[in-house]
Amino acid sequence: MTLKKGKTEYDNRPIGVFDSGFGGASFLRNALRLLPNERFIYYGDNANAPYGDRTEEEILRLAENAADYLVHKGVKALVVACNTATSAAINALREKLEVPVVSVEPAIKPACEREGDGRVLMLATAATTKLSRYRALKMRMPDPERVIDVGCSGIVERVEKGVIEKDAFDDILWAKLGPYEGMRIDGIVLGCTHFPFIAPAIRRYALNHFTGECRLYDGNEGTAKQLRRVIKARGLEAEPGSAEGGRVTFFTSGDEASCEPIFRMLLSIPIYRPRARKEKE
Ligand code: DGL
Repeated sequence: MTLKKGKTEYDNRPIGVFDSGFGGASFLRNALRLLPNERFIYYGDNANAPYGDRTEEEILRLAENAADYLVHKGVKALVVACNTATSAAINALREKLEVPVVSVEPAIKPACEREGDGRVLMLATAATTKLSRYRALKMRMPDPERVIDVGCSGIVERVEKGVIEKDAFDDILWAKLGPYEGMRIDGIVLGCTHFPFIAPAIRRYALNHFTGECRLYDGNEGTAKQLRRVIKARGLEAEPGSAEGGRVTFFTSGDEASCEPIFRMLLSIPIYRPRARKEKE
């Protein structure tokens, strides 16, 4: 639906966002802030989460289903708010869909561009770390050897249950990050959209077990900015000041009655901005 207002044309159709489950809510927190006039339709494939331990073919098929679901709802643009789905399906989705497709990707670029003597830890699902798209991205970094990829199975399952407490992940973090105990770590990339919800837990673990700055990076804000650029460039902006701006409609392949409250709870959590290393948390 295109509305005319003076010389400006507005497009009040919603923007579709999907993830394997609730992770995309961490992207949506940024999108709501940067695109306050837009309304969003979210699809969580909770019945099939996690994607991270599945094969590339399975992830591709699930991502295509999720995208089709949103396209049939009449979205004007699509956001793949799942690093794992991006790795397996972004090229196929862009080829197939007529609406513009924007996607999250592990934020290793800003992490690698910040100078330091330490390493960069890239935490993501096992699938993301293995798939060729991420491997190619990493090879474009000035010093790919600086990046240590850690496939972190187990975290997504807990976040899907609404568990995000600071001390609820020490066992998984120890199992995955124990081998790097005492290492100098300059940056930690949250390469899965479920992880920003447990950023305080990851940061706390890092400060207790590594030296170095341990600065956290995620791709959500950059992706929301990219979405804003694309919406503007294609003339798809929604009308300012409409009561629909900021509305998020939630759909899931799982049980709506139990999923929606967890989704809304995660969406309402303020974005975590850690203090500098010296002030222990
Ligand atoms: N949130 C997703 C990501 O960004 C995937 C989590 C999963 O389903 O394994 O990778």
